[in-house]
Amino acid sequence: MPSLDGKKILVGISGGIAAYKIPSLIRLLIKEGAEVQVIQTPYSKNFITPLTLSTVSQKPVYSDFFEQNTGDWHSHIGLARNCDLMVIAPTTANTLSKMAYGQADNLLLAVYLATPAPVIVVPAMDVDMYNHPATQNNIKILSDRQNHIVLEAEEGELASGLTGKGRMPEPETILQEIILFFQKKNSLNGKTFIVTAGPTYEKIDPVRFIGNFSSGKMGFAIAEELAFRGAEVHLVSGHVSIPYPIQSNITVHKIMSTVEMLDVVRKHFPESDGAIFAAAVADFRPVSTIGSKIKRENKASLEIKLEKNPDIAAEMGKIKKDKQITVGFALEMNNELLNASKKLISKNLNFIVLNSLKDKGAGFGTDTNKITIIDKNNKKTVFELKHKRKVAEDIVNYLVDLLK
Ligand code: C5P
Repeated sequence: MPSLDGKKILVGISGGIAAYKIPSLIRLLIKEGAEVQVIQTPYSKNFITPLTLSTVSQKPVYSDFFEQNTGDWHSHIGLARNCDLMVIAPTTANTLSKMAYGQADNLLLAVYLATPAPVIVVPAMDVDMYNHPATQNNIKILSDRQNHIVLEAEEGELASGLTGKGRMPEPETILQEIILFFQKKNSLNGKTFIVTAGPTYEKIDPVRFIGNFSSGKMGFAIAEELAFRGAEVHLVSGHVSIPYPIQSNITVHKIMSTVEMLDVVRKHFPESDGAIFAAAVADFRPVSTIGSKIKRENKASLEIKLEKNPDIAAEMGKIKKDKQITVGFALEMNNELLNASKKLISKNLNFIVLNSLKDKGAGFGTDTNKITIIDKNNKKTVFELKHKRKVAEDIVNYLVDLLK
């Protein structure tokens, strides 16, 4: 079976010289079984004609919101929702910037804004435009965006006569990236994972609790990445203020306390292929919850007796079967590697993700994280500081490799 059999791919073309190579890309996509719909910006017609593109794609090419002569409406919503992937190649500095900031002054950009499908962005421009801080910033914005892959421009001779980075990768390379994308997308089909996320709250009285600053961002990003690759996900989340994932293969279980989190995890663990414990669980809880709001009058101080909470990761570590994979997190301040390795063993994890509070931009609340993965053989893999969505990709890649 061709590797892109039945895949609906929207190819968006903006106005750069590399546009002349897109008919070759379209041919390759069709050869692999894809159905291609082309949208081009008005300016790109100077580089490649709609007639050439409609001939190779075997479909009308859209560029405007409606046909001047007939008034026929090209619904950007219809186009946006009816595809498995959008590829924008070449993406000029101008289109890149508009995508980064959400402008929609042509059909291509409106479709981009409206599509729930993943997007592969292929920047191509002259070396100085590519290296400009504004362009690099826009590339970073798009790379950090969920479901976006930005291909790096290649080094070489440019249309201007200059040499440097800015060339669009060849159609064969873009095709390989597209095939890889769909392989990755389905790599966890049929698997089920549990992800714990956010803080747990331990009630002191009806209005107060012991909690922590966990935002849930890391756990949510992992749940979304697993779901993107086809897994069924049970996301067991403490109270957070970020939006819940919307993928249909993520079931959100909202819990408050550690014991509630344990109950849900215990229920779904036996049928799961593994669990990622990204929640910041309260280690202790009040021995008893006071039935009415504690008053401050007549009290110089207040003592609340705490008892230990169950360790969810360790509990699952005790009952896990050979094939199940468990992953923990260690947020450390001192002796980071040693402490993380100890947790890996005591909780019987397959690997542990260490983030140090000493690293700027890592840990609670931030959009970024800097991690080191330590596995059972004490192999350490250090990753650079990146957006939590990209960190989630690294963690899930590691997990997928273990499953092989
Ligand atoms: O021992 P520590 O809390 O540092 O371990 C962190 C790891 O263990 C995290 O993966 C966290 O989600 C998990 N954990 C847990 N239940 C607890 C405490 C931690 O699942 N009670």
